[in-house]
Amino acid sequence: MADAILVTGGAGYIGSHIVAELARAGYRPIVVDNFCNSSPSALPRLSRIAAQEIRCVTADVRDQAALSRVFAGHAIAAVVHCAGLKSVSEGEAQPALYYDNNVGGAIALVDAMAAAGVKRLVFSSSAAVYGQPDRNPVTESAPLRPQSVYGRTKRIVEQLLEDVAASDRSWRIALLRYFNPAGAHASAAIGEAPSGIPNNLVPLLADVAAERRAEIAVYGNDWPTPDGTGVRDYIHVMDLAAGHVAALAYLASTPGVIALNLGTGRGYSVLELIAAFERACGRAIPRRFAPRRPGDVAAYYADPSRAEAVLGVRAHRDIDAICADAWRWRLNRVDD
Ligand code: NAD
Ligand code: WQD
Repeated sequence: MADAILVTGGAGYIGSHIVAELARAGYRPIVVDNFCNSSPSALPRLSRIAAQEIRCVTADVRDQAALSRVFAGHAIAAVVHCAGLKSVSEGEAQPALYYDNNVGGAIALVDAMAAAGVKRLVFSSSAAVYGQPDRNPVTESAPLRPQSVYGRTKRIVEQLLEDVAASDRSWRIALLRYFNPAGAHASAAIGEAPSGIPNNLVPLLADVAAERRAEIAVYGNDWPTPDGTGVRDYIHVMDLAAGHVAALAYLASTPGVIALNLGTGRGYSVLELIAAFERACGRAIPRRFAPRRPGDVAAYYADPSRAEAVLGVRAHRDIDAICADAWRWRLNRVDD
């Protein structure tokens, strides 16, 4: 029987791609999600591309009793913890909500895992734990100075997990620090489906290309970067998902806790992303230069060499693949 892997937040954007990749690798993913930022309609589509019925338990990860029932009902080998709230601006406006959901969810999960004797965990962390980097590329040993409530919740969970691993050497934990995930599954059956106004550049570009939005506001053209616009490390969500599958395999034979950057090691500017999206959709993307967005930094991109060495995987899809897949998903999306 294939190993069962619990994916919290598995109905969401990144979690659903991890579920698809786990199924492809021969695992049996089981989802726990409360659908606060996703829809149950993703599950039949996910089951189709996974070529197996994806079991989903509707529950809040803060509900430890519900989690314990999931562990009691399935022989779970490991957990991928994606459930969480991720909007930087919403976190600033509602800090208690973010601490409660992101930190409280991790505490309840760790307790339920310990009670069930399941001690292999991959955590969705974020480059937000670094804050403003002193230099690029950003390595895992860079200072950890999160600049937002959201980033602080991620760092606090990392610290919790470091302490858990120190207290009991049978835990095996990977803290995966994502840079800028984007793109969608090649089937165009799953992808990012933000409710309301998207927060991130690529789904916004897709909305402009689909004429759901008049133009893209480019936040600043006076940054100290080659073309004056912000530079980020966009990693295809399927490369990100492959990193999780590799991390689970790595943890099967390695105890302790490890932090790993998941990025490509290359930065692209907003104008380069716009050009890539224009190539993908074959249309011009109207843009307007706007003031810098508060809290933004000029440039950051990962040093992914530790993840590549430890996990043996490298992100190989480029921004053209990201934009092509994001555009196909935008055309295919039916839930709006
Ligand atoms: P998402 O909102 O699409 O997915 C999160 C999922 O978790 C959703 O399905 C939501 O319904 C669920 N969820 C949230 N709180 C829950 C709770 N208390 N109980 C049960 N389910 C809950 O977001 P995503 O982009 O897929 O992000 C997944 C994880 O990766 C998050 O932890 C996020 O912080 C992290 N991350 C995302 C990015 C990014 O740019 N998308 C970057 C770095 C890190
Ligand atoms: C990318 C670039 C913007 C929108 C965020 C979180 C981070 C992580 C990933 C969770 C920047 C520019 C954007 C627009 C623009 N999430 N931009 N016009 O801010 O790098 O990272 O998502 O962990 O924590 O902060 O991503 O997609 O918002 O922006 O010019 O309408 O696009 O200024 O240079 P960001 P983003």
